[in-house]
Amino acid sequence: APTTEDIRAIAAPLASLEGPLLPMLHAVQEAYGHVPEAAVPVLSDILNLGRAEVHGVISFYHDFRKAPAGKHILKICRAEACQAMGGNRLAQATLDKLGIDWHGTTPNGAVTVEPVYCLGMCACAPAAMLDDKVVARLDDARMDRLLKEAGA
Ligand code: FES
Repeated sequence: APTTEDIRAIAAPLASLEGPLLPMLHAVQEAYGHVPEAAVPVLSDILNLGRAEVHGVISFYHDFRKAPAGKHILKICRAEACQAMGGNRLAQATLDKLGIDWHGTTPNGAVTVEPVYCLGMCACAPAAMLDDKVVARLDDARMDRLLKEAGA
């Protein structure tokens, strides 16, 4: 696990930026694949901010992960065109099947499910993306195949 010193070494050089918290969080996530809890006191100390404030920023921006991601990332589109084509139902059914919530990871570590807002495939909704592969015209059967392929 990353130590306080490791995190400080990543974050401290960014302290002179204007609005340094977001760049620091991004740098930490880039280094570890998520923002570990241990980063909160370090950043709050460097920036002289309350821990609650740092936590608030991490929760507000959905890009930040609080736990390591699974081996594969499945992003399911939740924007309008996909919603209109049953995307919400499909997303919920998928989460239920996996027994996780948004941003959650399957117990075997295979798949993390995240929301995404438009993949540019509105004409072939509903759409999702498994790692960097976009899949469109999804239905339950195709989603099942996708999950199987990802080892969920
Ligand atoms: Fe889902 Fe555009 S709304 S791809």
